[in-house]
Amino acid sequence: MSKVTVLPIKSFSLNISEIAPDKSISHRSVMFSMLSSGVSEIENFLRAEDTLNSLEIIKNIGAKVEDDGKTIKISSNGIEEPFEILDCGNSGTGMRLFCGLLSSANGHFILTGDKYLRKRPMKRVTSPLISIGAKLDGRGNGELAPLSIRGASLKAFDYESKIASAQVKSAMILAALRADGTCTYREPELSRDHTERMLKGMGANIKVEGLKTIITPLRNSLSPLKIRVPADPSSAFFFAVAAAILPDSYIVLEGVTLNPTRIEAFKALKRMGADISYELMDDKYEPVGNIHVKYAPLHGIVIEKNISWLIDELPALSIVMACAEGESLVKNAQELRVKESDRISTVVEGLRACGIEVDEYKDGYKIIGAELKKAEIDSDGDHRIAMSFIIAGLKCGMEVTDLECINTSFPNFFELIQKITQVKFL
Ligand code: S3P
Repeated sequence: MSKVTVLPIKSFSLNISEIAPDKSISHRSVMFSMLSSGVSEIENFLRAEDTLNSLEIIKNIGAKVEDDGKTIKISSNGIEEPFEILDCGNSGTGMRLFCGLLSSANGHFILTGDKYLRKRPMKRVTSPLISIGAKLDGRGNGELAPLSIRGASLKAFDYESKIASAQVKSAMILAALRADGTCTYREPELSRDHTERMLKGMGANIKVEGLKTIITPLRNSLSPLKIRVPADPSSAFFFAVAAAILPDSYIVLEGVTLNPTRIEAFKALKRMGADISYELMDDKYEPVGNIHVKYAPLHGIVIEKNISWLIDELPALSIVMACAEGESLVKNAQELRVKESDRISTVVEGLRACGIEVDEYKDGYKIIGAELKKAEIDSDGDHRIAMSFIIAGLKCGMEVTDLECINTSFPNFFELIQKITQVKFL
């Protein structure tokens, strides 16, 4: 499966209950189970490459895992030194959070990843961790994986991060749980907060005061996690885009996390004119419910705030911008350049190939809405680029190559797309 042709359609109506489970929560659920001496139970775990790699890693560091295909039960007597090199595959979240979890564990650990992950910046976690006593190293003076970690005693900290990154925040919170005193982490804008919610739910003493998170180190192990992973809003968003760009279309996305740090892209879509409503169904660690999206005429918008709340959805949102009336501007989104691909370049090049006028900036782009045209798009190994342009194909037809990456986050994506249109694999 290296190339797909997508046929255009006029309109569709659909309810989807099988959106991929949330990737951020799935990674955390297996890692945080290592902090409890009880049996954690995880339902609806995302069985995609990234998160299965995290599950494999916790097995290698001493977790006992029972999996009946529905519920994953995890118990551990603490972190053990692994026999294997720990392979995070394509996942920045996996690698950066494991740095935080392992930096205070007894033993020596090596974290590696695929050719894309080995090029992504790691100093954002290795530097603050080293500053509190962690013994971490990697290629390029600690910037690049493979990374090696020798567990060490960690000092209490008051750290101010320059970037709003949930991965950095989570790595530091995990380190703080084993530090020698109360720790404070500050960020410039609130990033996604699953770590704080889940660890608090397990009994950790974590206080959030605006942009400041105060963490008291653990005295005992935490209560086990009992969680049903909700659907991933970043995956659901591709189908929201499909309904938003096709006149007379309507979709219901079921069981999605409605965590306010995750649904900003749906809010942006509403600002562009789409008809969007939410139905709250549950609220344990996170609010969970259904999202309804109905087509309405779209206009351009400016996006410059709360960027970390919609960073993963910007490639798909750029397809909506291309279909909207007028100009759209994305600013302050330089973090896009260090995702699974340089997503400013991949979005700009992809849209230009589809006949759209786009200006590229260091920290974003300007898109002039017009008629999308069929093109051949290479995903550059980036799952969100591949899926965004497949969705654009519903409007105008599209050929997309380099598709394996979709398995990192959304293995049943094509099953769901085939409920809407025909696709041909070459
Ligand atoms: C994630 C945080 C975000 C996001 C990534 C998942 C997480 O990255 O882009 O897909 O689960 O913590 P940053 O924290 O680096 O912004």
